[in-house]
Amino acid sequence: MTDPDWQRLRAEAVEAMRHAYAPYSGYRVGVAGLVDDGRVVSGCNVENASYGVGLCAECGMVSDLHRTGGGRLTHVVCVDGEGALLMPCGRCRQLLWENGGPTMLLWTVSGVRPMTEVLPDAFGPHNLEAADHPGKDT
Ligand code: THU
Repeated sequence: MTDPDWQRLRAEAVEAMRHAYAPYSGYRVGVAGLVDDGRVVSGCNVENASYGVGLCAECGMVSDLHRTGGGRLTHVVCVDGEGALLMPCGRCRQLLWENGGPTMLLWTVSGVRPMTEVLPDAFGPHNLEAADHPGKDT
C-alpha cells in the first residue's frame, strides 16, 4: 500500500475516533482497516459504567468487518484522541491475528510491521485443527 493510502486509512481511524464513547477514561480510540476486497472498516471504543465490559475500538472494527460481509484485514491503523498512532492492547492484537493473520500489516509506533512481529509466536486458528474459518491455512 502506498503512503497516501496509509494516510487515508489513518484519516478513517481519526474519523472513527471522533465517535468514541469514553466518558470514564476520557481516552478516545479509533481504528480503521483495509479489507482484502477493498472495503474499509472502522471502529471506536465504547465504554460502560461497569468498567470491565467496555469495548475497545478494535472490537467495533471486527464487528464492522463481519457485519459488512467478512473477509480478511490486510492493513490496519489505530489512533488515540490526538490522532497519534496507538499500539493495540494485547487482547486486540489477538483479534487482529484472528481476522488478518500473520501477513496483516499494522502501522505501529515503530513503522509498518507484520502481525508476526506484533504478536510473535501467536496462538491462533492453526492450533485448533478442527476449526473451519477463513484463516485456517495461515
Ligand atoms: N482502548 C482501545 O480501544 N483499544 C486499545 O487497543 C487500547 C485501549 C481503549 C479501551 C478504553 O476505553 C480506553 O482505551 C482506555 O484504556
